[in-house]
Formats: sequence, C-alpha cells, structure tokens
Amino acid sequence: MLKHLITLGTLCATGALHAQGSAPAAAASASVSATQAAAPAGAFVIRPADAYDTSKLPDDHYGRLARYGKELTDRTFAYIGPEVKNTKMRFAGNNLACASCHQASATKKFAIPWVGAHATFPQYRAREDEVSTVEERINGCMERSMAGKKLPLDSREMKAFVTYMHFLSRDVPTGGKVEGQGLPPFKAPNRRADPAVGSTVYAEKCASCHGAEGAGLRAGAPGSATGYTFPPLWGKDSFNNGAGMSRLLFASSFIKTNMPQGTQYGQPQVTDDEAYDVAAFVLSHPRPVKAHLERDFPGRWNKPVDSAFPPYVDGAPADQHKYGPFGPLQDNMKALKDTLMKSSAK
Ligand code: HEC
Ligand code: HEC
Repeated sequence: MLKHLITLGTLCATGALHAQGSAPAAAASASVSATQAAAPAGAFVIRPADAYDTSKLPDDHYGRLARYGKELTDRTFAYIGPEVKNTKMRFAGNNLACASCHQASATKKFAIPWVGAHATFPQYRAREDEVSTVEERINGCMERSMAGKKLPLDSREMKAFVTYMHFLSRDVPTGGKVEGQGLPPFKAPNRRADPAVGSTVYAEKCASCHGAEGAGLRAGAPGSATGYTFPPLWGKDSFNNGAGMSRLLFASSFIKTNMPQGTQYGQPQVTDDEAYDVAAFVLSHPRPVKAHLERDFPGRWNKPVDSAFPPYVDGAPADQHKYGPFGPLQDNMKALKDTLMKSSAK
C-alpha cells in the first residue's frame, strides 16, 4: 500500500518550525524533502547537555534570567500554573510544564528543542498567516499547549523564556538550521487511524505511567502547584484542541520518536502503525476547547490536513480530518491550492 510521507513541512503546516518554513510556497505540499527536515546539510548539531547548563552562567542579569527561564520550562506549574497562590500569576490553564513536551529542558533532539529557536524567529507561520516573533510563538503554546493566556511581553517570565532560548541558541547562525529541530517526518499509514486498536497499545505501553484514564500521576496533592511525575494525556488538565499536539500527525510523530519516556530518535519502541493508532486513541478523548479556532490558518490554502476543526475548506468530512486517511486529503489540498490562494488573496 502506498505510504504517504508526511514531512515536517506539512506536519506543522508550513514547516514553520524550521528555516525552510520561511518560504510559504513550500507549505501544504508533501514536497519539502524529508532529508532536509531530518538532517539539513551544514546544520548545527545540538551539543551535549552540559553545554546548556545555566548554572555555569555568571550571577548577573543575563545569567539570572536564563536560569529562571530554564526553571520556568521545567516547573512551569510552580510559577505560572493555575494553582499558584498569587492569582495574578495564573497564566497557564493546566499543570503541565513546557518540558512535558519540550523534553530535557527543551534540549532533546526531535522533541521540539529550542536550540536555535532564537535564531529561526521571526518566521512565517501558517496558523497566523503572518510573520511571528519568538514571543508570539511562546504565547502560541501558552494559549494552546498550556491551555492558558498570553504572558505580557514586558513580564519577567517572558523575558526569562526569551533569554533561555537565546542562551540555547548561542552559536546557531541567524536563520540557520539545527539538526533535530521540531519533530521528524512521520510516515502515516494510508488508512483511517483506529482508536480501538490504539487502546490496546495504550494499555500495554503507556498506561503504566500515564494511567488507565489518561490522567497521569500528580507529583503532590491537587492544588499544591507541584505538577506531575507523569503528565495527563487528556481531560481538563491537558493541552487544548488548538494545540499542535492535538493534531494526529504531530502526536504520532512525537510518540513514535519520544515515547515511552527514554526513547531516542532512531530507536523507536512503537511501530508507525502503533504510534498512529495510539495517538488517535489519546486524541479521541475530551480535552479543553480553544475558542475561535476558525480564525486559525486564515490563508486556508495552507491549513494542515490534520487540523480537526472547521472550516473544512476541501469539503472532506470532519472524521477524516481527525483520523485520516490523510494521503487523499493532501493530494486534494494540492489540487485546490491555487484556487484557495486566489480567494484568500482578495
Ligand atoms: C503539549 C505539548 C507542549 C507543551 C506543554 C508546550 N509546547 Fe511548545 N510546542 C509544542 C509543539 C507540538 C510545537 C510545534 C508545533 C507547532 O508549531 O504548533 C511547539 C513549538 C514551540 C516553539 C517553537 C519551536 C521551534 O523550533 O520553532 C516554542 C518557542 C514553544 N513551543 C514554546 C513553548 C513554551 C514556552 C511552553 C511552556 C510555557 C511550551 N512551548 C509548552 C508542544 C508543546
Ligand atoms: C516510563 C513512563 C512513560 C511511559 C511508559 C510513557 N510515557 Fe509519555 N511521558 C512520560 C513523561 C515523564 C512525559 C513528560 C516528558 C518527560 O519528562 O520526558 C511524557 C510525555 C508525554 C506526552 C506529551 C505531554 C502530554 O502531557 O501530553 C505525550 C503525548 C505522551 N507522553 C504520550 C505517551 C504515549 C502515547 C505512550 C505509550 C506509547 C507513553 N507516553 C508512554 C512518561 C511516560
């Protein structure tokens, strides 16, 4: 059967995770080369963990902010989570940490590392059909992955995130590429994903940490702002339905490459089929709802095929946008591209 190669370019709608995404023409087509996404020629190679040790920085303004940024990444729930004592500081809507997805303090290859993020922004983003700054991108995850609200641009927390990303991006040339940026290409099986099969995979390979009900394992009592030992995968303390992780192809790629915990790129512990079905099972459950998703991808022509919310500009059913098969949708989007581009240009 024909396997459709879903490259990162289509995964994140524009390849916006990468320098290649600055060319909007590369978006929505499967033509962005997988090798480029996996290991772009001359790309910066992420250094060993001790190169990103913020404790070695001097005790000056920059060092203190970079350290706070790393702390915010690992223990987001303790500073800006929904259970912190100071209600004015409750910016995140869930008790996840940025590092729940951006693993190893956002330094792990192919776990959406921030190494280089400071050098690749500003960049074109299909979700906004605009050039976004790194601050706007941070707030994108605040409003979606963290199901919360924007951090003020002049807040100490925003400055800390940006400073930490700047520190992680040292030596990456402006506009440069980083090997292992974003998530790797995922070969989606050309069929509808099967949440029922996924539930078996879940019980065998995921439930021991994330719990039979997907609620994770809290590190302390509810209300104590101590976050999770194992984060929840669905329900009211999870990412919302506008988050990148709520797209099936993104979730499949993340799970194949990084789960169960400890999995390294190139040594998957689940097959493509298992990743695809278990991701569908995870995403088949309720989660926080983001308002006004119809405003996402205003250009329409580069709306990713696995964005499971209306409008469905290609006329395909909602179920197919959520569970696939995605190959036919991608081919269809390619055929519709010129028409959609014309109508969005007016
Ligand atoms: C539930 C998982 C999840 C959590 C939690 C999360 N993110 Fe993300 N983040 C993603 C995904 C997936 C992407 C890439 C996909 C996309 O563009 O939507 C991303 C992309 C990013 C990027 C762009 C990286 C690049 O290389 O272009 C930044 C910056 C970022 N996130 C910051 C944050 C910050 C700051 C937090 C915590 C306040 C956070 N994220 C929490 C899933 C998450
Ligand atoms: C050994 C424990 C363990 C197992 C088994 C495991 N995970 Fe995870 N998972 C984690 C931890 C811990 C994190 C947070 C990131 C980190 O600290 O590395 C995480 C993060 C995640 C995330 C992103 C964060 C979030 O809350 O949404 C997803 C999605 C996920 N896991 C899915 C799965 C799936 C699907 C499986 C089964 C194939 C699985 N995990 C198996 C421990 C585990």
